[in-house]
Amino acid sequence: MPPEPLADVLARTGLELSSELADDIDQVLITGEEIDAKLAHLAERLDADFAGQDVLLVGILKGAFVLIADLARHLSIPVSIDFMAVSSYGSSTRTSGVVRILKDLDDDIEGRNVVLVEDIIDSGLTLNYLLRNLRSRRPARLEVLALLTKPSQRRIDIPITYHGFEVPDVFVVGYGLDYSQRYRNLPFIATLRPGLPTPA
Ligand code: IMP
Ligand code: MG
Repeated sequence: MPPEPLADVLARTGLELSSELADDIDQVLITGEEIDAKLAHLAERLDADFAGQDVLLVGILKGAFVLIADLARHLSIPVSIDFMAVSSYGSSTRTSGVVRILKDLDDDIEGRNVVLVEDIIDSGLTLNYLLRNLRSRRPARLEVLALLTKPSQRRIDIPITYHGFEVPDVFVVGYGLDYSQRYRNLPFIATLRPGLPTPA
């Protein structure tokens, strides 16, 4: 679907947003319905790929918390869930590739099937670091699921097994993604109104 003004989406879906939130949003790039359909499809693939096996979904905090919750409920195979929190050295929106682990996995992953669940892959530097780190722990399989990618920004080629949507090189919020910790609760992916201070 082409980008749609927020007002049109609200009128069409009956969704209600407070004006404090609605006033900051420009266009809806991906609706909640489109995300849900995509997750159902990705979950079918995971169900098939890991039939009869054990899977650990690893969500990267904070952005992946909505995605992993919705994805998990589409799956029919048994999964375990864990989270990692990382912070990258550098500015708030451009990563340097040097990553500090703030919260590590609770358990050992040696010999296990791991699917790393990430909200958005931009430069790929964060994920590249995480993949190298997790590979060294010798999982049986290590796959990446990313809801969004910004291909134009990619600085490192990341093998993404389960991929949702490509977005253009614009800053997006919602469905877990934030700008200064806000907008994570929006049930869709949207752009911010022009004129709002944009992250440098
Ligand atoms: P990378 O290391 O450049 O791939 O950085 C990826 C991380 O940057 C994501 O996990 C997000 O936290 C953040 N990020 C990148 N692009 C956006 C965006 O458009 N909106 C919100 N966060 C973003
Ligand atoms: Mg973030």
